[in-house]
Formats: sequence, C-alpha cells, structure tokens
Amino acid sequence: MNEKTTHFGFTEIPESEKATRVQGVFGSVASKYDVMNDAMSLGIHRIWKDAMMDWLAPRPGQRLLDVAGGTGDISFRFLKRAGSGHATVLDLTEPMLVAGRQRAEAASMADQLDWVVGDAMALPFDDNTFDTYTISFGIRNVTRPQEALNEAYRVLKPGGRLMVLEFSQIPTPALQWAYDRYSFNLIPPMGKLIANDSESYQYLVESIRKFPDQETFLGMVRQAGFGNAKYRNLSLGIACLHSGWKL
Ligand SMILES: C[S@@+](CC[C@H](N)C(=O)[O-])C[C@H]1O[C@@H](n2cnc3c(N)ncnc32)[C@H](O)[C@@H]1O
Repeated sequence: MNEKTTHFGFTEIPESEKATRVQGVFGSVASKYDVMNDAMSLGIHRIWKDAMMDWLAPRPGQRLLDVAGGTGDISFRFLKRAGSGHATVLDLTEPMLVAGRQRAEAASMADQLDWVVGDAMALPFDDNTFDTYTISFGIRNVTRPQEALNEAYRVLKPGGRLMVLEFSQIPTPALQWAYDRYSFNLIPPMGKLIANDSESYQYLVESIRKFPDQETFLGMVRQAGFGNAKYRNLSLGIACLHSGWKL
C-alpha cells in the first residue's frame, strides 16, 4: 500500500517521517533558538507575542497548556500577565524544553511550570483540563494540524480559549514578493552564521509558504468545534492570531 505523504518545507515526504524530521530541526537549533528569533525578526516576534497576550488577557489562577511551547516564551509571558497560575509546556523536542527549563530556573519561576515531551496530535491529558490552550509558531510544523486543533478542543474546559500565533500570508502581492526575497535570501544564511545550520532555516521559510492562509485556517478552527472564531493580522499578515472558544 502507498503511504500517505505530506510536505516538509517544499519537499514531499511520507507522513510517518515528518515528526522525526521536525525534531531534527529543533533539536539542532535549540541552544541558539532564542537568539535566532531575535535576529531573524529584528525582535518583532516579541511584539507579536505581546499582542497575543493583549488579546488573550490572562487572568489570575488560570491553567495554561502551551503546545509546541519550546523554550517557554508564551508561558512566561502568560504567567507574568496572569500574576498567578500554572503553565504546562508540551513539545515534541526535548532539547527545546531543556533550554526552557533553564530559563524558568534562572527567573525563579520553576514552581509554576511543567515541561512535558509529547505530540500536539495526541495530548497526554484528560478531557476538559485547561482554561487556555496556546500554540505559537508550532502548528505549522505539525503533521496533521486539524488533529492538533481537535485535541485542543478536547482538553480545554467548557468556556476555555484557544489562541494560535502563526506565520501567515500577506494579502498584498507586491509586499509578499518583497517579504519572500527577504526570507529566502537572508534567513538561511543568518541561520548558518548564528546556529551553523542553514538547512533548518531553509525549512522554516519553506514551511511558512506552505501554511494555509488566514481564512482557510479559520475554517479549520471552526471545524474543530470552536465558537466565536476570529483572526487578527499582525504586521500586515506576516503573522496572524486565531482565537476560538469552547462554548
Ligand atoms: C518555532 S518553535 C516555537 C516555540 C515557541 N512556541 C515560540 O513561540 O517561540 C516550534 C516548536 O514546535 C515543536 N513541535 C513541532 N511539531 C510538534 C508536535 N507535533 N507536537 C508538539 N510540538 C511540536 C518543535 O519541537 C518546536 O519546539
């Protein structure tokens, strides 16, 4: 029987290989991940993550599940805004979580966080467990994103909130052209210089172009069962926030 295929950047691969390839990318860049984020986006990823918090408006005592949470950027912001609460950071790639745990210890926040190795498509948590589910620059890497959204719906409590931050598509062709020139020509060499790994960053820029546009992804959020689903573009659509509620 022919195995189903999927995309890994611009390369078509068997579905069963994608998670291992993705782990390879993030395992390779983990120790340089935070530095590279600032370099590639000129620090703008921080503004997008703050915009995510502005819309999410964390409240004291809330329980967050931060899927594909990596080195914990979203969880740290969430806990600081909430004032009190708990975050579970789940990620496929252990070295990313190890880097995050070191950050938590340095910031004396270790008590408020758990770090769990796992897959967004099969969450090791009971139904109706969390107040908030976030996934930031993660769902683009998941083999079957619809399954991750279905899992988000399952583990959220009734009344719980989903928020997705992801690269998206710029609706203006001339701007998309300029952005493509920047990302395809500059980001892989920057990856080579800072993380000694241009291939991982080549994957990054290709995976951005393969990800569904704002409206298509909104349909997937609704299909998972989320109500009051909406999106907001960031920086003209370079990135986008999608929000939905388990009503
Ligand atoms: C670009 S990083 C994002 C990290 C963090 N959320 C942030 O915004 O800085 C993407 C993360 O997604 C994780 N990831 C990819 N596929 C995953 C999956 N199926 N389940 C869980 N995590 C996954 C990778 O290991 C990586 O740490």
